[in-house]
Amino acid sequence: MRSDTEIALTAIGVERPSTEAQWLVEEVSGMDASQQLAHASEGVSRRAVSALQLLVERRASGEPLQYVLGSWSFCGIDISVDRRVLIPRPETEVVAQVAIAEVRRCGGRVGPTDATDAWSGNSTAYAVADLGTGSGAIALALAAALPDAEIWATDVSEDAVAVARANIAGAAATRVRLGIGSWFSALPEILRGSLLVVTSNPPYVSEAEYKALPPEVASWEPVSALVSGPTGLEAIEVVVGEAPSWLVPEGSLVVEIGATQASAAIALALDAGFVEAFVIKDLVGRDRVLVARLTD
Ligand SMILES: C[S@@+](CC[C@H](N)C(=O)[O-])C[C@H]1O[C@@H](n2cnc3c(N)ncnc32)[C@H](O)[C@@H]1O
Repeated sequence: MRSDTEIALTAIGVERPSTEAQWLVEEVSGMDASQQLAHASEGVSRRAVSALQLLVERRASGEPLQYVLGSWSFCGIDISVDRRVLIPRPETEVVAQVAIAEVRRCGGRVGPTDATDAWSGNSTAYAVADLGTGSGAIALALAAALPDAEIWATDVSEDAVAVARANIAGAAATRVRLGIGSWFSALPEILRGSLLVVTSNPPYVSEAEYKALPPEVASWEPVSALVSGPTGLEAIEVVVGEAPSWLVPEGSLVVEIGATQASAAIALALDAGFVEAFVIKDLVGRDRVLVARLTD
């Protein structure tokens, strides 16, 4: 089953046919790579073959592998994804890790926790927010690492919030609360001035850049998750500009940015009243994460 799938994926020009074949077979058979090898000589049900054919056809139509599989790993957490949400990216794992480090810097306890269930917890010591949560990936990474945090996950898209809700329910992450609305307006007013850390991966692609995106991104992922406006900085401007009034006096903001937006994002943060602002690189050395602190 796997070698036939690999041949089919090679024929349609998939970049990593062997790996993708393994994942697709895993999806329909429920068997990992070693189990697939052990059972290679056994017959396969017709149902499994047609299910696999369907997945290969979807892949052949250009649909991203992650949507075809229906889930993707983010910071070691299995996240359900479909066309309603952006596929979580490796650079966003850096954003989540930096946000966790900022919580630690602000005095928050970072897991692993000694509680029996790292996801739940009746009492919380502080609140953080993930704005533009999409699938809920960053919020869930924060919930897994920050045992005492109440996490607010918000999005303007009701479709995205539906996906995030399902992911949060699936992970039994009872400390994650959802809000619908544009940026900070999705949060209850009572949180103003009380968030330890705010994080966001907002849309930051300009309308012109959008036209140059590969079809696998532009034709499949939500435009509203990618494009911010004519300059690409519009959403970053709002998040950075409004964050100081929602943070505690020693709080931090952590925002994913485009690789060419570092100096503009730092200038916006200093203008907004942050006393320290700098950019951290992603795994391939591009400036991708703005960190802005209200105290140094
Ligand atoms: C780049 S995606 C990030 C999704 C997810 N946080 C991740 O990192 O995979 C941007 C998200 O921001 C949301 N968004 C766009 N405009 C927004 C707004 N005005 N207020 C809140 N969220 C918004 C989109 O719906 C989308 O889910």
